[in-house]
Amino acid sequence: MNTEIIKISEGKLELSELERAAEVIRAGGLVVFPTETVYGLGADATNPEAARKIYAAKGRPSDNPLIIHVAFPEDAEKYAFTSDIYYKLAERFMPGPLTVIMDARDTVPTETRGGLPTVAVRCPENKIAHELIRLSGVAVAAPSANLSGSPSPTTAEHAIDDMLGRVDMIIDGGSADFGLESTIVRIESDGALTLLRPGKITAEELSGTVGEVKIAAAVTDRLSDGEVALSPGMKYRHYAPSAEVLLLDCDARAAAEYIKKNGVASVALIAYDEDASHFRAAIPEVFVYSFGKRFNEAEQARLLFKILRDADKRRFTRLYAPLPPKSGVGLALYNRMIRAAAHKIIKP
Ligand code: TXA
Ligand code: MG
Repeated sequence: MNTEIIKISEGKLELSELERAAEVIRAGGLVVFPTETVYGLGADATNPEAARKIYAAKGRPSDNPLIIHVAFPEDAEKYAFTSDIYYKLAERFMPGPLTVIMDARDTVPTETRGGLPTVAVRCPENKIAHELIRLSGVAVAAPSANLSGSPSPTTAEHAIDDMLGRVDMIIDGGSADFGLESTIVRIESDGALTLLRPGKITAEELSGTVGEVKIAAAVTDRLSDGEVALSPGMKYRHYAPSAEVLLLDCDARAAAEYIKKNGVASVALIAYDEDASHFRAAIPEVFVYSFGKRFNEAEQARLLFKILRDADKRRFTRLYAPLPPKSGVGLALYNRMIRAAAHKIIKP
């Protein structure tokens, strides 16, 4: 397939170009577009054939449902059974990096929902995404625009690496602001909220708005055999580079000793800026990726998937990284990093 790449800046929207992209969506085609979290691979959410094309382009199992993206929070009415809690969340967090799972209406084909009775709804803040969805006139189903199993794309270059020749159009809108996928919550039948995937909107912020939020066990823990994932995506190995990722739960001194003892050939390390000079002195053979300052989680979120992709390009076979804290945006980093590491945490 011939993929057209168009460049659009969020600050200076070219509506005629976006209208052409919307036309591709309406005709059942695939368009990669930027959002404030990561790049998405979009198609008409109401068209079963278009949904099937998404799974094929990503190499994604068809039981892993897609998020549908709407231009305005109230457009969710057409696709889901909303509630007061949905509108409370929408008022505080939409448009923005929050996805809400509710019971689906039959306007959403089973292909889009991966066979589930529920549907995930998100109203993105990025202006290119917003205008594309609005001009399409339908909800846009969009998973992250990566090949299944590799880290989500945070730049157009990442999306081009994975999707060139597999989609009709790629909109290059620069780097994604946040760099990790949206927070996902499910509204239970009794109105309680369960956090299924942490993101920029934190568990603490959610409970400040709607009261208690239960955190699904799979956010931090490995599913035990036979346990059913609340979110089908949680059961697949995810965010994984080809390098073996190991998380170090210790200070820089102990980490450097451990790395030295276990071999430094084709090894790289993700380090907080405060620790970088210690590592460069103690293990000069090891390539060091800057992870920003220790408490700058926004910077770490922006860098993580870039680093994972770069580590593959440079063919490192092992990548060490610090274990993030489980609070605030740290929980989102923790969730992505333990998956990239297949839960391998080292406490030397
Ligand atoms: O930030 C994001 O959410 C990005 C951008 C493009 O919007 N999209 C994204 O989609 O991350 P995806 O498909 O890569 O991740 C969606 C996750 C998957 O793990 C999927 O299993 C889960 O959401 N999901 C979707 N619908 C669901 C449902 N009805 N019930 C439970 N989990 C669902
Ligand atoms: Mg994804």
